[in-house]
Amino acid sequence: MSSSPRRYHITTFGCQMNKADSERMAGILENMGFQFSEDPNQADLILYNTCSIRDNAEHKVYSYLGRQAKRKLQQPNLTLIVAGCVAQQEGEALLRRVPELDMVMGPQHANRLEDLLEQVFAGNQVVATEAVHIMEDITKPRRESQVTAWVNVIYGCNERCTYCIVPSVRGIEQSRTPEAIRAEMEELGRQGYKEVTLLGQNIDAYGRDLPGTTPEGRNLHTLTDLLYFVHDVPGIERIRFATSHPRYFTERLIRACQELPKVCEHFHIPFQSGDNDVLKAMARGYTQEKYRRIIDMIRHYMPDASISADAIVGFPGETEEQFENTLKLLEEISFDMLNTAAYSPRPGTPAAVWENQLSEEVKSDRLQRLNHLVSIKAAERSQRYLGRIEEVLVEEQNAKDPTQVMGRTRGNRLTFFTGDINQLKGQLVQVKITESRAFSLSGEAISVPQPALV
Ligand code: SAH
Ligand code: SF4
Ligand code: F3S
Repeated sequence: MSSSPRRYHITTFGCQMNKADSERMAGILENMGFQFSEDPNQADLILYNTCSIRDNAEHKVYSYLGRQAKRKLQQPNLTLIVAGCVAQQEGEALLRRVPELDMVMGPQHANRLEDLLEQVFAGNQVVATEAVHIMEDITKPRRESQVTAWVNVIYGCNERCTYCIVPSVRGIEQSRTPEAIRAEMEELGRQGYKEVTLLGQNIDAYGRDLPGTTPEGRNLHTLTDLLYFVHDVPGIERIRFATSHPRYFTERLIRACQELPKVCEHFHIPFQSGDNDVLKAMARGYTQEKYRRIIDMIRHYMPDASISADAIVGFPGETEEQFENTLKLLEEISFDMLNTAAYSPRPGTPAAVWENQLSEEVKSDRLQRLNHLVSIKAAERSQRYLGRIEEVLVEEQNAKDPTQVMGRTRGNRLTFFTGDINQLKGQLVQVKITESRAFSLSGEAISVPQPALV
């Protein structure tokens, strides 16, 4: 056997949860002595961390896999793994479809990668998709950024939105303890990280599975309590959280965000549709009026807060008029950013078998019309920054112009300005905004911080 180190490659599809899982799995592999390879063709172990939120996300992985399965014919030592949501959804079926696979592992098993790999190296083909209690991770993740980090606070989702595959692939809600979350953030602070995004599919559900109530019967461990609990972690300058669910969003949470200086003025609250009948068919558990009240309440406490959301067009049975209610909501609320998608029927979800499916033409036409309005609204919202001084946390060099650096405002707008990344990475810089575009800003630094004392 050659003595050169074994190399691994991970490609990640899907949401921030998957990105966070990949970073932990990469940490486990490095702890086992593997080295990262950017190029999958140079790797001895390839892991695809997959997403099944929409049909096209799922298909992408099959085309990647096909190529590597062929390579395995020449290189039998190649280890091929499918992790994440497609793995959970397909399980054994995936092995039948791609018999070259060594392992299929669901998202709940990410932290167990080392144990599972030992079984693979012992010659087994492994399927790990049973529901488990998620282990606390003991290895250090290999994080993409040295400035901003994801921290999972709750895994899974107990909602049953009729279009959504997430509950069946991510399992029931499992909250991490406030102590474990704080300990991870303290370690991040020591390593020089400046920003943490707390993650959950429905982050407002945080803590409802943890024991303990106040004398009035309120759960002791809500997201709001968690924010107070982790707020003073040394070194961490900014805290964000996602994703909020309108059904559970509280005024108490908004007040905490207003009161706690490290919590950024940005809320990501998907509304999915601006029409009450569609919302009902989606089983979202709120009306568009309730959604508007939440936004009004945020703007009452924090008039300048940025607000982003997700929306789906072409849900089964959606009429032109109902779709227009989504346009109307976007028009009236004026989101800073909106992630949009055409409805995609997912296996095992209720809406997938309804007979009132819309044609692809209608869906894509509505998606285009919505996206057009999204950019207009985002551009309008961007303009409010012109001439202002914004705090930007510098993350990276601008890939398109090395004389510039890029970072984000507290409201989460991507911002570019002239500067040296070696000097500015991880610094909070006051930037005067001179140009605005729909989804980004440009400006000039007005205070360049002193080089950090290392
Ligand atoms: N937990 C979050 C979102 C999770 S999935 C929430 O409750 O809002 C991310 C986004 O993908 C969703 O907000 C929704 O807009 C979109 N999505 C989910 N299932 C979809 C489907 N079947 N077709 C199209 N878009 C979908
Ligand atoms: Fe899916 Fe609904 Fe759960 Fe969000 S809240 S992950 S849309 S089931
Ligand atoms: Fe996709 Fe799974 Fe996230 S389906 S969006 S990777 S939870």
